[in-house]
Amino acid sequence: MIQDALIDNPNTAGSLENRHGQISSVRQQFENIFGDAPEFIVAAPGRVNLIGEHTDYNDGYVFPVAIDKYIHIAVRKRSDRRLVLHALDVNESAELNLDALRPIPSNAPTWSYYLIGVATLLQESSNEITGIDAVITGDVPIGAGLSSSAALSVSAALAFLGSSKPVSSVNNEVSEARKKELAALCQRVEHEFVGVNCGIMDQTISLMGRADHGLFLDCRSLEYEHVPLNLGAHCIAICNTKVKRELAASEYNKRRAECERGVDILSQSIPGISSLRDINLTDYEKYEGKLPALTQKRCRYVIEENTRVLDAVSTLKARNQQTVEKVDNPLIAFGRLMNASHKGLRDDYEVSCGELNLLTDIARSIDGVIGTRMTGAGFGGCTVTIIHTNALETFRTRMTAEYRKQTGIEPEIYLCNVSNGAQVFNC
Ligand code: GLA
Repeated sequence: MIQDALIDNPNTAGSLENRHGQISSVRQQFENIFGDAPEFIVAAPGRVNLIGEHTDYNDGYVFPVAIDKYIHIAVRKRSDRRLVLHALDVNESAELNLDALRPIPSNAPTWSYYLIGVATLLQESSNEITGIDAVITGDVPIGAGLSSSAALSVSAALAFLGSSKPVSSVNNEVSEARKKELAALCQRVEHEFVGVNCGIMDQTISLMGRADHGLFLDCRSLEYEHVPLNLGAHCIAICNTKVKRELAASEYNKRRAECERGVDILSQSIPGISSLRDINLTDYEKYEGKLPALTQKRCRYVIEENTRVLDAVSTLKARNQQTVEKVDNPLIAFGRLMNASHKGLRDDYEVSCGELNLLTDIARSIDGVIGTRMTGAGFGGCTVTIIHTNALETFRTRMTAEYRKQTGIEPEIYLCNVSNGAQVFNC
């Protein structure tokens, strides 16, 4: 019997049913493969970032939400040091030994790097873990900018922790401080085992998300606030360009290096700064001319985006305090900030692409769309849109038809519920 720890929001009954279905299905698949039931199942969500893009590795602010799309891992503890792993969605398996994970074995499939990385770093930081049998599956679209890889490393971390102590204790025991440590560990997996110098946003939201709340996170101090997302008659629509993000890793690392270069140069004129987070637009404009042209655009975008996140969060908080009649104006302001964020990502940070721009252009021409932008690292992946529910049908029809007509690609549209962070379920 799967413990019914999922009932957190009666409004998401449809999605809960779907989630129960997924958990039963991964449990069944585990039995088919290993001949016995798993001991527990881990679920870690993907995310969509509402605003605050490419600010996390600049010590700045972000405002993502966890979505009801998950990586699930069904797990049974082994009495030896072997990892026997099956990734259902790519139909690949891997057998590894906990004592021989570094360097990464040459025959290890790419998806297993996340588990290898997590197991290695957990052991290096004195966590005793055992071998596991595991079945991995999920519905976070892979490579679509919705953090399937963070969801995989977070679920792997909970899988290994669950195998080393009574499962019932894992959910309770993962304190806020422990979650921050785990997020940092999963971020190191990306840096050291995958080669992407990512920030801390994706892993943190996958662990810390809360249903119907955005996570306002200060990526320097890791202080955070769960801000209620009373969207009323509006909802969050995600639209997948289905464009593979081939440039994402190399260009991502380049952007990060450009920002660091900007800080190096600016610190000669503004003493004491250690990241773009420390500079406001007025000071920046005094010294911007000292930077190479491209670095100017990159830094300007980040400084402006940090301000947009602060404005967006204040706007939502103001909305939460208003009476029902006046309730829409702040949301419109939030939407304008999303649109401005997209423009900065397109023109100054240059991480958008034709397909993302097309989807945002189409969306913006539809009545009822409050705001729209690319989300995640960019170069493909998804847009996120806040839209009135009355306009959803038109949105689906027009986004699909016009995008298909201009690109020949069938986009995918997901209406997501804002969900809780990762959890472990006893079987
Ligand atoms: C990727 C990274 C994050 C963040 C975003 C861009 O998702 O993993 O750390 O930098 O890109 O905002």
